[in-house]
Amino acid sequence: MDSSRPIGVFDSGIGGLTVVRALMERLPFERIVYFGDTARVPYGIKSVATIEHFTAQITDFLLRQDVKMLIIACNTMAAVAAEVVRRRAGDIPVLDVIEAGARAAVGGSGAGRIAVIGTPTTVNSNAYARRMHELDPAVRVYSQACPLFVPLVEEGWLDHPVTRLTAQEYLKPVLAEEVDSLVLGCTHYPLLKPLLKEVAGPQVRLVDSAVTTAELAADTLQRLAIANTSRDPAAYRYVVTDVPLRFQTVGERFLGRSLGTVEKLEW
Ligand code: DGL
Repeated sequence: MDSSRPIGVFDSGIGGLTVVRALMERLPFERIVYFGDTARVPYGIKSVATIEHFTAQITDFLLRQDVKMLIIACNTMAAVAAEVVRRRAGDIPVLDVIEAGARAAVGGSGAGRIAVIGTPTTVNSNAYARRMHELDPAVRVYSQACPLFVPLVEEGWLDHPVTRLTAQEYLKPVLAEEVDSLVLGCTHYPLLKPLLKEVAGPQVRLVDSAVTTAELAADTLQRLAIANTSRDPAAYRYVVTDVPLRFQTVGERFLGRSLGTVEKLEW
């Protein structure tokens, strides 16, 4: 396989840029094609059948871009449609944020009491808890849907009294279970890390699935001997289905750097 081929990373919108950011830091020589379905976001409140249908379209698009690996950056798609991606991808390796987050959570949890927060679809799917129980049947998993976090993050209210109050309310039931780890099971939540850390307290370890996915990607590229050997600066492509208002500002907040050219896809 030609190791200079890009990695395909996709999400329901621009939240998956938190995963791209972690990948750029961990794997600076890897080319990336990012796909964000900005015309149809949010997925986190849609039905499984609809999410599967959209996921299949995105996977086929990225496979046509000749990617060497696929990364499902969206927790909601990973929760309910990972099999759709794997079936279509054939021999192309597929990584997802839930696999990476579940492994990191179980591996680092001292007391085995783990909280997972995510969109309603992710939490209802029970995908995180299922995977964590496969890895370690003894862990206790407490899940909480936090639907208001996505719009709050997109609004840029990362350190705002409304967000703090919302977080206190959402986290109350899981913190009452004396969890030692909190899995950020949604693309948008890494931006809330400082606030969530403050609300959860120093005894709770935050598991950032963007960072753990980048680690898993690095291991997989090494294991399969498909890491890019070129030391030229990596090229990045951003493909979206709509360019909404404030797209550039919000996107750059997620990515932590300037976005450059964004291509709008006509299906
Ligand atoms: N990307 C989604 C996730 O990680 C959040 C946004 C949405 O609901 O589509 O679950």
